Amino acid sequence: MHPDDPRTIWEDVPAGDLTLRIRRPPSAEDLIDEDEFADDERLPYWAEVWPSGRVLCGVLAGMSLERRSVIELGAGIGTGAMVAALRGARSLSTDWYPAAVEFSEWNARNLGLDMEACVVDWRDPPPAVLDRAPFDLVVGADILYEARNGVALGVLIPALCGPSTEVIIADPRRPDARGFVEAMESAGWSYRREDIPVPGRIDETGPIVHVHRFTPPPSKHNEPVVL
Ligand SMILES: C[S@@+](CC[C@H](N)C(=O)[O-])C[C@H]1O[C@@H](n2cnc3c(N)ncnc32)[C@H](O)[C@@H]1O
Repeated sequence: MHPDDPRTIWEDVPAGDLTLRIRRPPSAEDLIDEDEFADDERLPYWAEVWPSGRVLCGVLAGMSLERRSVIELGAGIGTGAMVAALRGARSLSTDWYPAAVEFSEWNARNLGLDMEACVVDWRDPPPAVLDRAPFDLVVGADILYEARNGVALGVLIPALCGPSTEVIIADPRRPDARGFVEAMESAGWSYRREDIPVPGRIDETGPIVHVHRFTPPPSKHNEPVVL
Protein backbone atom coordinates (compact mmCIF):
# COMPACT_ATOMS: atom_id res chain seq x y z
CA MET A 1 0.00 0.00 0.00
CA HIS A 2 1.29 3.47 -0.92
CA PRO A 3 0.91 6.46 1.46
CA ASP A 4 -1.38 8.18 -1.08
CA ASP A 5 -3.75 5.18 -1.13
CA PRO A 6 -7.24 6.40 -0.09
CA ARG A 7 -7.56 3.44 2.31
CA THR A 8 -4.78 4.84 4.56
CA ILE A 9 -5.82 6.49 7.82
CA TRP A 10 -4.59 9.45 9.84
CA GLU A 11 -3.47 8.94 13.42
CA ASP A 12 -2.40 11.41 16.11
CA VAL A 13 0.56 10.14 18.11
CA PRO A 14 1.14 12.14 21.32
CA ALA A 15 4.76 12.55 22.43
CA GLY A 16 5.33 14.76 25.47
CA ASP A 17 4.26 18.25 24.44
CA LEU A 18 4.20 17.24 20.75
CA THR A 19 1.60 15.48 18.63
CA LEU A 20 2.63 13.76 15.40
CA ARG A 21 -0.12 13.47 12.83
CA ILE A 22 0.83 10.50 10.71
CA ARG A 23 -0.68 8.52 7.86
CA ARG A 24 -0.55 4.74 7.94
CA PRO A 25 -2.25 1.63 6.55
CA PRO A 26 -5.51 0.85 8.38
CA SER A 27 -4.41 -2.62 9.44
CA ALA A 28 -1.12 -4.51 9.57
CA GLU A 29 -3.02 -7.78 9.36
CA ASP A 30 -4.44 -6.90 5.94
CA LEU A 31 -0.89 -6.54 4.59
CA ILE A 32 0.20 -10.08 5.49
CA ASP A 33 1.87 -11.73 2.50
CA GLU A 34 2.08 -15.51 2.79
CA ASP A 35 5.07 -15.75 0.42
CA GLU A 36 7.03 -13.26 2.52
CA PHE A 37 6.20 -15.21 5.65
CA ALA A 38 7.20 -18.52 4.07
CA ASP A 39 10.46 -16.98 2.86
CA ASP A 40 11.67 -15.23 6.02
CA GLU A 41 8.87 -15.35 8.61
CA ARG A 42 8.37 -11.69 7.84
CA LEU A 43 5.19 -10.03 9.12
CA PRO A 44 4.18 -6.41 8.42
CA TYR A 45 4.42 -5.24 12.02
CA TRP A 46 5.77 -1.94 10.65
CA ALA A 47 2.29 -0.68 9.76
CA GLU A 48 1.16 0.26 13.29
CA VAL A 49 2.60 2.41 16.04
CA TRP A 50 3.06 -0.01 18.94
CA PRO A 51 2.74 0.90 22.64
CA SER A 52 6.53 0.83 23.01
CA GLY A 53 6.85 3.06 19.97
CA ARG A 54 4.66 5.60 21.73
CA VAL A 55 6.75 5.34 24.90
CA LEU A 56 9.96 5.85 22.88
CA CYS A 57 8.39 8.97 21.32
CA GLY A 58 7.66 10.32 24.82
CA VAL A 59 11.23 9.61 25.98
CA LEU A 60 12.76 11.31 22.93
CA ALA A 61 10.40 14.29 23.22
CA GLY A 62 11.88 14.90 26.67
CA MET A 63 15.47 15.01 25.38
CA SER A 64 17.47 17.84 23.91
CA LEU A 65 18.92 16.39 20.70
CA GLU A 66 20.18 19.47 18.88
CA ARG A 67 22.62 18.36 16.12
CA ARG A 68 22.98 14.86 17.62
CA SER A 69 23.00 11.92 15.19
CA VAL A 70 20.21 9.44 15.85
CA ILE A 71 19.37 6.13 14.15
CA GLU A 72 16.10 4.29 14.80
CA LEU A 73 16.19 0.53 14.13
CA GLY A 74 13.01 -1.36 13.23
CA ALA A 75 11.37 2.05 13.09
CA GLY A 76 8.24 1.05 11.21
CA ILE A 77 6.63 4.33 10.23
CA GLY A 78 9.48 6.09 12.03
CA THR A 79 7.71 8.04 14.74
CA GLY A 80 10.75 7.86 17.08
CA ALA A 81 13.03 9.21 14.37
CA MET A 82 10.47 11.95 13.62
CA VAL A 83 10.35 13.09 17.26
CA ALA A 84 14.17 13.10 17.33
CA ALA A 85 14.18 15.29 14.20
CA LEU A 86 11.66 17.64 15.85
CA ARG A 87 14.05 17.90 18.81
CA GLY A 88 16.84 19.00 16.47
CA ALA A 89 18.61 15.69 15.74
CA ARG A 90 20.09 14.55 12.43
CA SER A 91 17.76 11.60 12.32
CA LEU A 92 17.70 8.38 10.29
CA SER A 93 14.69 6.05 10.30
CA THR A 94 15.36 2.44 9.23
CA ASP A 95 13.38 -0.76 8.72
CA TRP A 96 13.72 -3.92 6.62
CA TYR A 97 10.39 -3.29 4.85
CA PRO A 98 10.75 -0.89 1.90
CA ALA A 99 7.08 0.05 2.40
CA ALA A 100 7.85 1.17 5.97
CA VAL A 101 10.64 3.38 4.67
CA GLU A 102 8.28 4.81 2.06
CA PHE A 103 5.69 5.70 4.75
CA SER A 104 8.46 7.09 6.94
CA GLU A 105 9.70 9.38 4.16
CA TRP A 106 6.17 10.43 3.22
CA ASN A 107 5.22 11.31 6.80
CA ALA A 108 8.48 13.17 7.50
CA ARG A 109 7.99 15.20 4.34
CA ASN A 110 4.37 15.90 5.26
CA LEU A 111 5.49 17.18 8.68
CA GLY A 112 8.17 19.34 7.06
CA LEU A 113 10.96 17.42 8.77
CA ASP A 114 14.53 17.12 7.61
CA MET A 115 14.79 13.37 8.29
CA GLU A 116 16.30 10.54 6.28
CA ALA A 117 15.00 6.99 5.94
CA CYS A 118 16.48 3.86 4.40
CA VAL A 119 16.14 0.09 4.30
CA VAL A 120 18.27 -1.68 6.91
CA ASP A 121 18.00 -5.39 7.64
CA TRP A 122 19.80 -5.91 10.97
CA ARG A 123 21.37 -9.10 9.63
CA ASP A 124 22.85 -7.43 6.56
CA PRO A 125 23.19 -3.69 7.18
CA PRO A 126 24.24 -1.58 4.19
CA PRO A 127 27.85 -0.30 4.31
CA ALA A 128 26.54 3.24 3.71
CA VAL A 129 24.82 3.12 7.11
CA LEU A 130 27.74 1.46 8.92
CA ASP A 131 30.01 4.17 7.45
CA ARG A 132 27.93 6.81 9.26
CA ALA A 133 28.75 5.32 12.67
CA PRO A 134 29.28 6.27 15.38
CA PHE A 135 25.80 7.63 16.06
CA ASP A 136 25.24 9.66 19.23
CA LEU A 137 22.02 7.77 19.91
CA VAL A 138 20.75 4.37 18.72
CA VAL A 139 17.05 3.79 19.46
CA GLY A 140 14.38 1.19 18.84
CA ALA A 141 10.94 0.18 20.09
CA ASP A 142 9.56 -3.35 20.32
CA ILE A 143 12.44 -4.84 18.36
CA LEU A 144 13.34 -7.65 20.79
CA TYR A 145 10.24 -9.78 20.19
CA GLU A 146 12.03 -12.82 18.71
CA ALA A 147 15.26 -14.54 19.76
CA ARG A 148 16.77 -14.01 16.30
CA ASN A 149 16.32 -10.25 16.67
CA GLY A 150 18.55 -10.09 19.76
CA VAL A 151 21.20 -12.17 17.99
CA ALA A 152 21.30 -9.75 15.03
CA LEU A 153 21.10 -6.59 17.18
CA GLY A 154 23.91 -7.84 19.43
CA VAL A 155 26.17 -7.60 16.38
CA LEU A 156 24.69 -4.52 14.72
CA ILE A 157 24.30 -2.18 17.69
CA PRO A 158 28.00 -2.20 18.71
CA ALA A 159 28.91 -1.55 15.06
CA LEU A 160 26.83 1.66 15.21
CA CYS A 161 28.33 2.86 18.49
CA GLY A 162 31.24 5.03 19.59
CA PRO A 163 32.58 5.32 23.13
CA SER A 164 29.86 7.79 24.17
CA THR A 165 26.87 6.47 22.23
CA GLU A 166 23.69 5.86 24.20
CA VAL A 167 21.33 3.02 23.24
CA ILE A 168 17.65 3.28 24.20
CA ILE A 169 15.25 0.41 23.55
CA ALA A 170 11.58 0.53 24.60
CA ASP A 171 10.23 -2.97 25.14
CA PRO A 172 6.80 -4.22 26.23
CA ARG A 173 8.51 -6.93 28.33
CA ARG A 174 8.90 -9.42 25.51
CA PRO A 175 10.29 -12.71 26.87
CA ASP A 176 13.18 -12.63 24.36
CA ALA A 177 14.32 -9.19 25.54
CA ARG A 178 15.74 -10.70 28.73
CA GLY A 179 18.45 -12.66 26.91
CA PHE A 180 19.55 -9.53 25.06
CA VAL A 181 19.81 -7.45 28.23
CA GLU A 182 21.74 -10.21 30.03
CA ALA A 183 24.18 -10.58 27.12
CA MET A 184 24.80 -6.81 26.97
CA GLU A 185 25.45 -6.68 30.71
CA SER A 186 27.77 -9.72 30.54
CA ALA A 187 29.70 -7.97 27.77
CA GLY A 188 30.28 -5.03 30.13
CA TRP A 189 27.70 -2.52 28.86
CA SER A 190 26.35 -0.18 31.54
CA TYR A 191 22.65 -0.73 31.94
CA ARG A 192 19.71 0.89 33.60
CA ARG A 193 16.00 0.41 33.17
CA GLU A 194 13.00 2.63 33.61
CA ASP A 195 9.49 1.16 33.89
CA ILE A 196 6.85 3.29 32.22
CA PRO A 197 3.18 2.60 32.98
CA VAL A 198 1.01 2.63 29.87
CA PRO A 199 -2.67 3.08 30.66
CA GLY A 200 -5.05 0.86 28.80
CA ARG A 201 -2.56 -1.63 27.44
CA ILE A 202 -4.42 -4.79 26.66
CA ASP A 203 -1.94 -7.46 25.61
CA GLU A 204 -0.64 -10.30 27.72
CA THR A 205 2.35 -8.42 29.11
CA GLY A 206 0.32 -5.87 31.06
CA PRO A 207 0.49 -2.12 31.48
CA ILE A 208 4.28 -1.55 31.75
CA VAL A 209 6.85 -0.82 29.06
CA HIS A 210 10.53 -1.20 29.94
CA VAL A 211 12.93 1.44 28.67
CA HIS A 212 16.38 -0.17 28.51
CA ARG A 213 19.35 2.22 28.38
CA PHE A 214 22.85 1.00 27.59
CA THR A 215 26.25 2.66 27.23
CA PRO A 216 29.25 0.76 25.88
CA PRO A 217 32.14 -0.65 27.89
CA PRO A 218 35.23 1.60 27.68
CA SER A 219 37.32 0.84 24.56
CA LYS A 220 35.11 -2.12 23.64
CA HIS A 221 32.20 -0.22 22.12
CA ASN A 222 32.51 -1.97 18.73
CA GLU A 223 32.81 -5.53 20.00
CA PRO A 224 29.87 -7.73 18.94
CA VAL A 225 27.73 -9.02 21.79
CA VAL A 226 27.12 -12.74 21.44
CA LEU A 227 23.79 -14.18 22.57
C1 LIG B 1 6.74 -4.59 16.59
S1 LIG B 1 7.28 -3.62 15.25
C2 LIG B 1 7.68 -2.08 16.03
C3 LIG B 1 7.60 -0.92 15.09
C4 LIG B 1 7.91 0.44 15.73
N1 LIG B 1 9.26 0.45 16.26
C5 LIG B 1 6.93 0.73 16.84
O1 LIG B 1 7.26 0.47 18.02
O2 LIG B 1 5.83 1.20 16.55
C6 LIG B 1 8.90 -4.31 14.89
C7 LIG B 1 9.63 -3.62 13.75
O3 LIG B 1 10.91 -4.23 13.54
C8 LIG B 1 11.10 -4.41 12.14
N2 LIG B 1 12.05 -5.54 11.95
C9 LIG B 1 11.89 -6.82 12.32
N3 LIG B 1 12.96 -7.56 11.97
C10 LIG B 1 13.82 -6.70 11.36
C11 LIG B 1 15.12 -6.86 10.77
N4 LIG B 1 15.74 -8.05 10.72
N5 LIG B 1 15.73 -5.78 10.26
C12 LIG B 1 15.12 -4.57 10.31
N6 LIG B 1 13.88 -4.34 10.82
C13 LIG B 1 13.24 -5.40 11.35
C14 LIG B 1 9.70 -4.70 11.62
O4 LIG B 1 9.56 -4.51 10.23
C15 LIG B 1 8.86 -3.72 12.43
O5 LIG B 1 8.78 -2.45 11.85
